[in-house]
Amino acid sequence: METESSIQVYYGDNLDVLRQMPDESVDLMYIDPPFNTGIRQIRRRFHTESGCRVLEDTYGYRDSFDDFLGFLRPRMEEAYRILKAHGSLFFHLDYREIHYCKVMLDTIFGRDSFINEIIWAYDYGARSKKKWSAKHDNILWYAKNPEEYVFNYEDMDRIPYMAPGLVGAEKAARGKTPTDVWWHTIVSPNSREKTGYATQKPLDILRRIVKIHSRRGDTLMDFFAGSGTFGEAAAQLGRNCILVDCNPQAVAVMKRRFRSYSVQWFGCEGIAMAQAPRKSASAGSRKKTQAKEGACTD
Ligand SMILES: C[S@@+](CC[C@H](N)C(=O)[O-])C[C@H]1O[C@@H](n2cnc3c(N)ncnc32)[C@H](O)[C@@H]1O
Repeated sequence: METESSIQVYYGDNLDVLRQMPDESVDLMYIDPPFNTGIRQIRRRFHTESGCRVLEDTYGYRDSFDDFLGFLRPRMEEAYRILKAHGSLFFHLDYREIHYCKVMLDTIFGRDSFINEIIWAYDYGARSKKKWSAKHDNILWYAKNPEEYVFNYEDMDRIPYMAPGLVGAEKAARGKTPTDVWWHTIVSPNSREKTGYATQKPLDILRRIVKIHSRRGDTLMDFFAGSGTFGEAAAQLGRNCILVDCNPQAVAVMKRRFRSYSVQWFGCEGIAMAQAPRKSASAGSRKKTQAKEGACTD
């Protein structure tokens, strides 16, 4: 593992941090904002007339839908400003909000800057008997300059062919390059990489993004950092990373996760390191679980 790269962690609202960053200072951004669940809620809106509060409507609407885009837009505008000319953004959500966010990001980056929608497909958890079970997340890739961006094709990992018998022994042994559908298990509740943070993403998914879309020594950023997975992927691959989160529990988890790294902490005084996550199964059943959930490739 390479640990010479620097990690900076900021505790606070990412908009404040973003606004203080210089133009064109980041090579690669990955963000995984909270997923707006879309649950319908009754929200009452009022305005004031002659000093009285007047009820405007009582209609239900998807929780935070308008607020969600309103929340994201100023942050994404700052992200665009901060990205270097050859920089890329990877934007991670799921089926509920991704289409609305795609339209919003098109207006900020320009439609030509949209390069790929990566589907991260997994296979874990309960299945619906009423519709196709949703078992994927969506990751949008925008390149600030669609004519010039980092894409280290030669560094791409290889995955097994689905039908190796059809391609010959040599090709089958080498494997094939991944497409825009990435099969990978979620972070298993018993895996070694588990930090205990609820929405932790798999390290290997983020390592692939870091490896293919940046260079050693580059500056990376994740301003919805959570447990800091992107920061760990960056540091392992010799990149520098700026992480921001407004949840003290996220900072506590990152303090534990990065305890063997050199980290600059901003505004994080008084937040103690999280406890080690508890394992929820015996070694025997862990082996069985891992075998069942093993990463699968197409
Ligand atoms: C889906 S989680 C990120 C998980 C992360 N990718 C990981 O692997 O652990 C989203 C994170 O965004 C943080 N967040 C939400 N609003 C924020 C804000 N305004 N400023 C900074 N962080 C925010 C939440 O605290 C949460 O940790």
